[in-house]
Amino acid sequence: MKKILLTGSRGFFGSRFIRSLGRDYEIIATTSDSLKITIRSDVENIISAVKPDYVVHAAAIAETDFCNKNPERCRAVNVEGTMHFADAVKKTGSRLVFLSTEQVFNGNAEAGPYTESDTPVPDTEYGKNKLEAESYIISECRDYLILRCTWMFGVPSKGLPVSPNLLWNTMQMILKGEPFKVPANEYRGITYIDDMLDRFNTILGLPEGVYHTGSVNNMSRYETVCHIFDALGIGSRIPELVIRDDEKYSGSPRDVRLDTSAARGLGIVFPDTAESLSRCISENYLRV
Ligand SMILES: NC(=O)c1ccc[n+]([C@@H]2O[C@H](COP(=O)([O-])OP(=O)(O)OC[C@H]3O[C@@H](n4cnc5c(N)ncnc54)[C@H](OP(=O)(O)O)[C@@H]3O)[C@@H](O)[C@H]2O)c1
Repeated sequence: MKKILLTGSRGFFGSRFIRSLGRDYEIIATTSDSLKITIRSDVENIISAVKPDYVVHAAAIAETDFCNKNPERCRAVNVEGTMHFADAVKKTGSRLVFLSTEQVFNGNAEAGPYTESDTPVPDTEYGKNKLEAESYIISECRDYLILRCTWMFGVPSKGLPVSPNLLWNTMQMILKGEPFKVPANEYRGITYIDDMLDRFNTILGLPEGVYHTGSVNNMSRYETVCHIFDALGIGSRIPELVIRDDEKYSGSPRDVRLDTSAARGLGIVFPDTAESLSRCISENYLRV
């Protein structure tokens, strides 16, 4: 059985990764308690002891506001922590799989969808960290995959944590019962975490490189939220609860969609966001 050393195993992605891939791989799951990724020798030691086939590096401080307010701490984790893995895998030949983000394109003047050959211009500390880590991996690693992911969604599941995501955030606002604003000038991919994990075995076998992965979503954020209401069976409550915000990003729409055709051409095909939201809602019996 091939071995995967996983970081961030208590997170939204990592905890579900173990549940999805744990039968097919021996997963050595690390947490911020068991492995200090900011300490180079600790990373070197575990990589040389385990000699994994893959390192799936999902640990990160992924909160944009927190990173903007704590740039040094976040760079130490998001950039230096990644550098330690990029250096350590040189000795074992392990493939480094790095979870990056569409947020590397946040500051681009031109609108998405972006391909892998577009030059990213991040404008947040988190986006800058991810891009710097990517560049280091590309320059130093002999075998790597960099997966630029769109915003992933899922719902709480027994024993598994949930990060803020569009489906869960929307459901929480519905439960509050107060009207909330949703931008009509924002476009981004939204991917069901289960769809990502269902494809991960194939993803691990992709040729080395940088890939844009996830569901295509050509709906605005407002339209996506309305779709969630419809899929939940409460479309009639949209006028009461959803305030269409035409002001935010009105000067220049925010469009960080990813062009995923390169990965699609290699067999990594996702359903679109509308279909995945509907399926997640029905699979989890969320329709009212
Ligand atoms: N979720 C998304 O929509 C999305 C989209 C694009 C890219 N990504 C990327 O995908 C990865 C996983 O995201 P996620 O949603 O699962 O994030 P998450 O729920 O915030 O989990 C991140 C994990 O990183 C670990 N971590 C933080 N600081 C650490 C440190 N100093 N040392 C070791 N581990 C540390 C935490 O471990 P402990 O719990 O053990 O403290 C946490 O469980 C991240 O790299 C993120 O940037 C996520």
